[in-house]
Amino acid sequence: MRKRDRNFEVYRKSIQEQNVYKQPTAFVIFGASGDLAKKEIYPNLFWLFKDSLLPQNTAIVGFGRKNLEIKDYLKQKIVDRMKLEKDDQEIYDIFVDKNHYICGNYNDEQKFKELDSTIQKLFLDSNQNLQSANRIFYLAVPPKVYPDISKRIAENCRAKESFYTHLVLEKPFGKDTNSSNNLSAHLSKFFQEEEIFRIDHYLGKEMVQSILAFRFANQIFRRAWNRDSIESVLINFKENFGTEGRAGYFDEYGIIRDVIQNHLLQILTIIAMDQPISNSADAIRDEKVKVLKSMDPIKIEDVVLGQYVANEMGASVQKNAYTDDKSVPDDSLTSTFATMILYINNERWDGVPFIISAGKALDRTTSEVRIQFKQVPGNIFKNVCKRNELIIRIQPDESICLKMQNKRPGMDFILEETDLDLTYAEKYEGLYLPKAYERLLMDVIYGSQISFVRSDELEEAWRIFTPILHQIEAERIKPICYKFGSQSIPESDNLITTKGNYTFRRECK
Ligand code: NDP
Ligand code: BG6
Repeated sequence: MRKRDRNFEVYRKSIQEQNVYKQPTAFVIFGASGDLAKKEIYPNLFWLFKDSLLPQNTAIVGFGRKNLEIKDYLKQKIVDRMKLEKDDQEIYDIFVDKNHYICGNYNDEQKFKELDSTIQKLFLDSNQNLQSANRIFYLAVPPKVYPDISKRIAENCRAKESFYTHLVLEKPFGKDTNSSNNLSAHLSKFFQEEEIFRIDHYLGKEMVQSILAFRFANQIFRRAWNRDSIESVLINFKENFGTEGRAGYFDEYGIIRDVIQNHLLQILTIIAMDQPISNSADAIRDEKVKVLKSMDPIKIEDVVLGQYVANEMGASVQKNAYTDDKSVPDDSLTSTFATMILYINNERWDGVPFIISAGKALDRTTSEVRIQFKQVPGNIFKNVCKRNELIIRIQPDESICLKMQNKRPGMDFILEETDLDLTYAEKYEGLYLPKAYERLLMDVIYGSQISFVRSDELEEAWRIFTPILHQIEAERIKPICYKFGSQSIPESDNLITTKGNYTFRRECK
């Protein structure tokens, strides 16, 4: 439950004072019957509505090929996703009543005209005259339909007069430089860049957002944030489950395109960027682009690839191999694990290895950034003075932890490592941390681009990854097999410690 502390009330008041809050708003979801709509879009819209954060006159219109009774769908099929609390039924019924649905094909011009007139009729003023509205179009459909839908929206359904039109897209944004540039070129024919909201949901996570504050509001770290003090940076992503249910999609993309080229590279840019000239969306994205422009394409010798195989994890638990999934060919070479070293060729980071490691079907689920500082020069103590390490844990159990050397309390003089630990669950006990999509939907509605991917960022990201992806595919490079539930792959650990200059350490408590 969202703890309604004083800060939240202040935030809500600031939202309710905005013009957009007072203006009519149509939120259109293409692919309303799909997985993303069910898991993220409808539930988060409901939570925002319940918190009185959605514009006061909002209507939600689903669109899809299936003939969906949207009110029944919300009340019966996906109500369990809404996590209704004891007294929520009434407000949920009001939310459901705000929903509408149009059944149609994504290339049917007439249906888009119908969508346009439906939106117009949803908003009448007190004299029953049509009112204009801000319009958000969320493409929760497979990317191959993006071109059709975006063109038809632009030609038939744009917001009228001075109201805004926002187009929301989900990754994958192409599969390589060419396909991504084609999509960007297509979109730019119909939409201004500031109308396009490319979601990378990692940018909506609490701890990813807090990196900016941590870096640029703390003098002690600002001075040390460079090649003089930092030995190595590891961005580590693990999931303790496989690709079940999404293997069809995954086999076409693989782990590099699925999480590295986007989510983890985004984190890297925020860790590495210089201070922006302000905290505006463009100032921040300008700095992120500069980081990307300073990076060379990845080399194959700096990469380890893996694919999980079956594992009997106990008498009754059999974990299947990736290729056991019916939608994956038996001879698939798609990687479910990858570790790679990237370098940023600029004054701040020259020579510092940035390691990205990501894998599915490993021993646990975690996303974290681990920054290892250089060894203390001229150690005067008898025992080894270990490196400081800063760990920003994005999930689960959000925390920031700094490993320090301290004198072990007592008569002797022995160093021991200890943690300066900012675990959110303890420091901000009981406080509700907004979900990534809650925050991102607010940004889409109220028009903040800070947490969205700009087209030049995307182009640079693909420049860095396209050559290696093409090489892996052209040479049919075979990933190393690892058992479902493994901690890691030895070859990956070796790359991390040798070229990555990273020393494995105990976990923070
Ligand atoms: P789904 O496969 O569930 O498809 C969503 C809807 O799109 C379907 O309900 C269907 O609606 C329509 N659709 C499905 N296949 C086709 C097709 N071949 N041609 C036209 N329409 C089709 O997708 P998701 O909801 O999982 O994902 C939507 C978008 O979000 C995708 O781009 C995906 O990559 C991205 N995404 C999804 C995530 C997730 O967790 N699901 C996470 C991150 C990104 P109808 O039949 O009514 O037209
Ligand atoms: C998605 C990937 O973008 O991010 C998934 O397609 C991955 O494969 C997911 O599991 C991870 O997101 P989160 O928020 O669960 O860490």
